[in-house]
Amino acid sequence: MKVFLIGYMGSGKSTIGKELATVLDFSFLDLDDYIISKEGMSITELFKTKGEIYFRKIETAYLKEVLNFNKDYVIALGGGTPCYSGNIDLIAKSINTVSFYLKLALPALVKRLMPEKDSRPLISHLKTEEGVLEFIGKHLFERAHYYSKANHSILTDNKTKQEIIEQIVKHLV
Ligand code: S3P
Repeated sequence: MKVFLIGYMGSGKSTIGKELATVLDFSFLDLDDYIISKEGMSITELFKTKGEIYFRKIETAYLKEVLNFNKDYVIALGGGTPCYSGNIDLIAKSINTVSFYLKLALPALVKRLMPEKDSRPLISHLKTEEGVLEFIGKHLFERAHYYSKANHSILTDNKTKQEIIEQIVKHLV
């Protein structure tokens, strides 16, 4: 089985994913890290040197690779992965997959992303907290359609990692 975690940047996909994989005794894979290892450069460098369209193309190609892995996995996707090239429908159609949207409200996302925005190509150009808030607000609105296609939505505001993992596991048994 493959358990996919989707959600905006900073929503905790990788942190929760690693612990969830341990609890389930599954392997863990972060799609961004997989892309970095395959392409031999960081996401920031990929955006800078090859552009976002190239990134979206390979993101889909590597997602397809990962979907073919013949092993139990928890997979943390990039924040944009479900929103391009029919990726979320591809996941839904694949056998033995389940997807969870880790839904964190806008203020908490902004708080988490402000200190690390320079390493995130989509928001690194924004100068102020108000700018980040406005950008993410609009972006979340555009992406909500795709995120809501996950099999389950988990509201994560004010929840501990353990509580979030327990909620996910409950849906799996
Ligand atoms: C992106 C999110 C990032 C990474 C890339 C684009 C997005 O992943 O794939 O910077 O479009 O939201 P994380 O959500 O893991 O930070």
